[in-house]
Amino acid sequence: MTSTLHVNGQDFDVEIRPHETLADVLRDKLGLIGVKVSCGEGECGSCTILVDGIPCTACLMLGRQGEGHELITVEGIGDFENLHPIQQAFIDEQGFQCGFCTPGFIMTAKAFLNKNPNPTEAEVSIAMSGNICRCGAYPYIVKSVLKAAEDIRNQQR
Ligand code: FES
Ligand code: FES
Repeated sequence: MTSTLHVNGQDFDVEIRPHETLADVLRDKLGLIGVKVSCGEGECGSCTILVDGIPCTACLMLGRQGEGHELITVEGIGDFENLHPIQQAFIDEQGFQCGFCTPGFIMTAKAFLNKNPNPTEAEVSIAMSGNICRCGAYPYIVKSVLKAAEDIRNQQR
């Protein structure tokens, strides 16, 4: 059955089988491999995308459930030539080691900073607590999000 998914500002007509997860559809059918699948059961947050602006674990959604919603993946907020300030801040503050968890953290941070543009360190830690980094880069991840918040505020002045 063909479904239409609105992803990163574009409509895509995709054949989706009933059991396919949204994470697998985004990765395997649309080539959006920034959606990382690690646990596959909603525990780690590596597959986090924005669904109508809300961070959601795409491994827990069926592909067809994505229909009728605005879906944003890490590819949709910036690219190599024009990185989003959160993406740049993760590079500047070395908020990763292997990088596998990074897209999920960035998408969680995006939704969080949209709501709280001037967070404290404790607020960032709590907001990021649903994402797991197996490399243990947490202190640098928190620094990255704080730097991104500052950079976004400065850009908006
Ligand atoms: S892969 Fe989706 S939450 Fe872990
Ligand atoms: S940087 Fe390796 S899992 Fe987070």
